[in-house]
Amino acid sequence: MSKVQENILTRRTIFRFSDKLVSKDCIETAIEAARHAPCHKNTHPWKFYIMGSATRKRLIPIVETLAKAKADSEDQQKLEALLDRARNKILKPPVLIAITTLINEEDSFREEEDYAATVCALHNMVLSFWDQGIGTQWSTGSITRNKNTYLALSIPKESERIIGFIKAGFPENTPTKEKKPIDEIRFYLP
Ligand SMILES: Cc1cc2nc3c(=O)[nH]c(=O)nc-3n(C[C@H](O)[C@H](O)[C@H](O)COP(=O)(O)O)c2cc1C
Repeated sequence: MSKVQENILTRRTIFRFSDKLVSKDCIETAIEAARHAPCHKNTHPWKFYIMGSATRKRLIPIVETLAKAKADSEDQQKLEALLDRARNKILKPPVLIAITTLINEEDSFREEEDYAATVCALHNMVLSFWDQGIGTQWSTGSITRNKNTYLALSIPKESERIIGFIKAGFPENTPTKEKKPIDEIRFYLP
């Protein structure tokens, strides 16, 4: 099996990262892979915002508000645990990246194609990280869709849409995942 095929087949979403730091070189290598993704009409619709600690701290009041709104319990201990969990999701990952795609209010087809291209770029980045021994988790949780997140990250909401956060770090363990059998998804037409 080629190294590329093996990289694609072994990649899994990683939910637990070790504390080992991810170097800037590793991040740059992954973004270099990202920017080589295909895009129609040369729009290069993707942007990658790598969040430092000051930026992550700006997200904390937002995730706290979201966690409180979600909590259906009056139990103070339970609420504290939820808040802790919400804060850790932002503060703990060794790398946290917001990925945006271009908005195009005049041309919904272009916007759809641009979204497809941005996902290609995101996955190039994910596979490049994996090639370097670094795992990732794509998150589309409510923090990635909140209007205050755009303000905290200085992302212009009128021209860019956050399509998710990518958390990255060295895996503590690699889950297994069953995929749909090839016979259920591949059809050779006459
Ligand atoms: C568009 C998209 C959004 C996702 N959002 C989340 C998320 O919010 N939280 C999460 O834990 N995983 C999220 N995932 C990861 C999926 O749960 C994961 O890819 C799926 O379980 C398949 O596992 P695999 O990546 O190991 O093949 C997302 C994946 C995609 C493609």
